[in-house]
Amino acid sequence: MCGIIGYIGYRNAVPVLMQGLEQLEYRGYDSAGIACYDHKKADFILVKEKGKLAALREKVGDFCFDAHVGIGHTRWATHGEPSRVNAHPHTDASERIALVHNGIIENYDTLKKELQRKKIRFVSQTDTEVGVQLIGRQYGKTPQKDLFEAAKEAIPKIHGYFAFALLSKDHPETLIAYKRSNPLVIGIGQGENFVASDVTALLPYTRQVVYLEDDDLAVVTRKDVRVFSLKSHSWVRRSPVTVHWNISQARKQGYPHFMLKEMHEQPEVLKNILKKRITKKEDIFFDTLPRGFPGRLKQIEQVYMVSCGTAHHAGLVGSLAIEQYTRLPCRTQVSSEFRYGNPILSRKDLVVLITQSGETADTLAALREAKAKGAATLAVVNVVGSTIAREADAVIYTHAGPEIGVASTKAYIAQLATLLLLAFYLGKLRKKIQTSQLKRLIKDFKKIPDQCSKVLKEGKRFEACAKKYFSRRNFLYLGRGYNYPTALEGALKLKEISYAHAHGYAAGEMKHGPIALIDHEQPVICIAPDSPTYDKMISNIQEIKARDGIVVAIGSQGDQNLEKIADDLFMIPKTIEVFSPILTVIPLQFLAYRVAVLNGRDVDQPRNLAKSVTVE
Ligand code: G6P
Repeated sequence: MCGIIGYIGYRNAVPVLMQGLEQLEYRGYDSAGIACYDHKKADFILVKEKGKLAALREKVGDFCFDAHVGIGHTRWATHGEPSRVNAHPHTDASERIALVHNGIIENYDTLKKELQRKKIRFVSQTDTEVGVQLIGRQYGKTPQKDLFEAAKEAIPKIHGYFAFALLSKDHPETLIAYKRSNPLVIGIGQGENFVASDVTALLPYTRQVVYLEDDDLAVVTRKDVRVFSLKSHSWVRRSPVTVHWNISQARKQGYPHFMLKEMHEQPEVLKNILKKRITKKEDIFFDTLPRGFPGRLKQIEQVYMVSCGTAHHAGLVGSLAIEQYTRLPCRTQVSSEFRYGNPILSRKDLVVLITQSGETADTLAALREAKAKGAATLAVVNVVGSTIAREADAVIYTHAGPEIGVASTKAYIAQLATLLLLAFYLGKLRKKIQTSQLKRLIKDFKKIPDQCSKVLKEGKRFEACAKKYFSRRNFLYLGRGYNYPTALEGALKLKEISYAHAHGYAAGEMKHGPIALIDHEQPVICIAPDSPTYDKMISNIQEIKARDGIVVAIGSQGDQNLEKIADDLFMIPKTIEVFSPILTVIPLQFLAYRVAVLNGRDVDQPRNLAKSVTVE
């Protein structure tokens, strides 16, 4: 939520900031702004605009800059409506410092009142302005107009979780950056350095990055980066790491939307995961598990899957697989409920945190809660070096590459594949799966990437279906077993990007409520591939038809029952139930995508949503 960018170096800062914001726009698009120090005018140039980046871009064109340093921001509004005045960067009362912010200042009201008593006037409704005014007041007191010292003194008074980038008029040769539970990375260039909320904004310039840790206050100049830890009150060393993503992965490459491009990348993602995780001897291998961790996994008596949004649906599938293949009890909870639910945990529990970004505020808090209670923590994360990846006892990366579309597709598939492999790995480790059974599972798994390509090739067929139903305002999704989470995920995709109401239900619960909705106008998406509960799904479908409902079915190839009864049918290649969610979700991604496009929605940046939810 909210994207921060900062640049200091030899280039014209404006295009660098604008390009960075473009990459970060998925983090919020309520307003955008930049502040640069113009060397000729010896002053800030501050440009901000309500709405998407395009509005800012138009405005920036009116200005002539001579700037080699600046900060920029794209906003997802928390405190104060989306407006020009609430857009970042914000300046202090003396207008000598500018600040961009991601996160929430929890004691902003108390701080604001204190500052108002000291006659400081506020112009916006944001919590951010409280931060810049507080630092600005401290700045006024420092003898040399030292922004680092001012930030060092003021920041500990601020409660909450946030990241800042700051610039002063008096020392434009330095940028200041601070991180507390919200992501912030420093990009290391030659004769230039960068600050950003995530690495995708840095990829056009550098792949060398420093991930800041909590309470790090960085002093960034053209030539170097120094980090002071407010936790240890000392200068610390943070080593740069090389990022393996490349910029073309973060571009649309001819597709009209990132979502569509990312859907088409799914077979490659799966191939890549299997290549990385399956050894020549047909065993499962996780390169990043620390020594001793597998030993700890052998002692585990219970597993929790904790995550948000789409990752939660992956957790539901993973949890079924863990129970089936390890016979360990496995509970699944959304992070926000887990963290406040006072979970009963001990050293015998394993808490698996599933997250694409590795920065989701509730999942991070859940991780900290689990660690504090002594449980073993394992993060299943896409973004290498993210906070959750670093703080968990162990991490397994999902290797989906950068995902830009707000509606998660390839990251979900990668989470499913990784969690299934984890279930098989644990099963083997705990001697619940024999070598021969593992070999059979791996053999079937290896067919999935090609089967996935096949489903994608036929995806166009869903256009006709989408055309029939795109104007409906209510959709019901039903599934059982491993495909109950698919029903939830299909419904989530549709509502996220088309704004139609969609509800996912366990098909067995249909008679306990949703059946009342069914009439000749109600599309019901029934996920009914081969599975032990297939017959039960067919009964549900009959019940829907008996009430004149519209059945859009997802079934396994050659299913003649479905051919007879479904109004619209989409077939997936045959596979065993445990792998089916990887294939059944693809038609649902297509359906959501097409319905959204036909409704003229902004597929990659749906209203009110943000890709990375770093506030509660
Ligand atoms: C947001 C995104 C979803 C994502 C969820 C959890 O809601 O729009 O796509 O599933 O956050 O994010 P995470 O990064 O933790 O997977």
